[in-house]
Amino acid sequence: MIEKYSSVDDDLSTKIKTEFIIRFYRLLKGAILYNPSNIIISQYTQECVKVINYIIESEGYLFLKIARDSLFLNNIKVRVRADSYPILKGLSREMRKRWIGEFRFNDRVKAEHLRDFIFLLARLEGKHESNYLYVKTQLEYRNVKYIDLGALELFKDEEIYFDSENKKRYSNHTYFNAIGLMKEIVESVKGQKVINIRKAKRLMQNAVNAIMEDESTLLGLASIKNYDESTFNHSVNVAIYAIALGQRIGIPKRHLSHLGVTGLFHDIGKIEIPIEIINKEGTLTSEEWEVVRSHPVIGSEIVMKMKEWGELITRMIDGTFEHHLKYDQSGYPKLTRKRKLTLFGRIVALADFFDACGRPRQYSRYPYISENILGFMLQRSGKDFDPALVKVFVNMMGIYPLGTLVLLNTNEMGIVIQTQVEVEQIDRPKVSLIYYSEEAYRKGEIVDLTEKDKDTGEFKRTIMNSLDPNEYNINVAEFLI
Ligand SMILES: [Fe+2]
Ligand SMILES: [Fe+2]
Repeated sequence: MIEKYSSVDDDLSTKIKTEFIIRFYRLLKGAILYNPSNIIISQYTQECVKVINYIIESEGYLFLKIARDSLFLNNIKVRVRADSYPILKGLSREMRKRWIGEFRFNDRVKAEHLRDFIFLLARLEGKHESNYLYVKTQLEYRNVKYIDLGALELFKDEEIYFDSENKKRYSNHTYFNAIGLMKEIVESVKGQKVINIRKAKRLMQNAVNAIMEDESTLLGLASIKNYDESTFNHSVNVAIYAIALGQRIGIPKRHLSHLGVTGLFHDIGKIEIPIEIINKEGTLTSEEWEVVRSHPVIGSEIVMKMKEWGELITRMIDGTFEHHLKYDQSGYPKLTRKRKLTLFGRIVALADFFDACGRPRQYSRYPYISENILGFMLQRSGKDFDPALVKVFVNMMGIYPLGTLVLLNTNEMGIVIQTQVEVEQIDRPKVSLIYYSEEAYRKGEIVDLTEKDKDTGEFKRTIMNSLDPNEYNINVAEFLI
C-alpha cells in the first residue's frame, strides 16, 4: 500500500521514490523477459501505475533523470541506501544501454499506456542517440501525449562508463585528464593564480570510481611511468597507486578521493626547485641535494596557502610534508621531535617510492624493474615503509605488476595485462603476447598463465624472468592502451 507513505512534507519521501524505482525497474526487467500479455506483466504494470499516479497526484508530474552517477526524481537526487543500491544501479544501467537519459509523465498514467511505453523501452537496441525519438514517435502514433523522454546526456569531465568496452576508454580519459590537470595546476601555482581544486577533487572521484570498478586498467596506465619522465605523470601515478592501496585497506570512498588529491599534490614543492637540478643526469652535489630535500616543506607551504580545500587541507599537508620522512623517520625533512606518521603520509610515501624507482634515469639510485623494486621495498619494510602497507601493496602489484615485460618458457615475450586475484596464482598473470614482425613489435594473442595442458596437466606457459623494455626498445604503453 502506498497510502502509508502519505505523511510526508513537501518533498516526496525517500521511501516512495525508492518504491517507484523498484517497481519501474521490475517492470522493465519483466518486459525484457516476457510478452506484453503475460500475467506477471499486468501485475507489475498495475503496481507501477499506483505509485506513479500517487506521485503525480502530489506533485503534478513525475520526472526521472540520470545525471552522472545519480538518479534524480522530480529534480531531487534519489538517496542511495545500501539495500536499494543494486536496483538504482540496475535501472540506470538499463537506461544507459538504450541511451535514454530521462522520461516524464505529465499526467496520470493509464496501465495500457505504461505497458506500451515500457515495451518500447525494453525493445530498444543499441546506444543510438535517436532512440528516444523512436519511442516518442511510437507513443504519438498511439495518441499518448503525456509521456515524454530524452536522450542520455554525457557530462564533461565526468564521462559515464557503461560496460567493460567503455571502461578502458573511461580510464584512459581519467588518466590523461589528470595529467592535463597537473600541468594546469603547476602553471597556476607558478603564476600565482587560483587553482582549480574542484576539478582536482572531481577527477580523483572519477579515478576512485574507475579503480573500484576494475583496478587493473588504471594501474596499467600508471605503469607507463617507465617510459615517460614527466613529473605530471608521476603525480598522477602516485595518486592512482595511493587510491588503489587505500581501497584495499578499506578506506571509505569519500576519503579515497582525498587521498588521490593528496597524491596529486605531494611533489608540488618541486616547482620551486631549479629545472637544472631536477633534470640533472649525473649525481647531485650535496648542495643540490639540500635543495631537492626542501621540496616537502615548500610543498606543504604551498598547500597551506590554498584556502579552498576545506576538510582536505590537514591531510594534504601531512601527505606532502611526510612523503620522504620514512617510517622510522630517518628521511627528510629532519625533525627535532619524532612524530607519528599519518596514514595518508605513509601511503603516499610508498606509492611515491614505487613510482619514482620505475623511472630510468632521474633519481635512479635503485634498480628499476618492478619485481626488484617490490623486493627492495619488502627489505626496507619497517624501516622505510609501514610493514603492513608494504604487504598489501606487494600483494596488489603482484610479483609481476601490470605492464611488466616478461620472457616465457616457450620463448615467447609478453606484457602482463592482468594480475590474478588469488594469491597462490600471483606469478601466473594474464599476458598479452608480443611478436616481432616487419621491424616492429606487435600485439599477439592474450594468454592466461594459469591455463594447463589437458594431456600433460602441466602449465602451458610459465614466466622465466622479466625483461627491461628499454633494452628491447618496446614501448609498453602502446600495448596497454
Ligand atoms: Fe617527493
Ligand atoms: Fe614524488
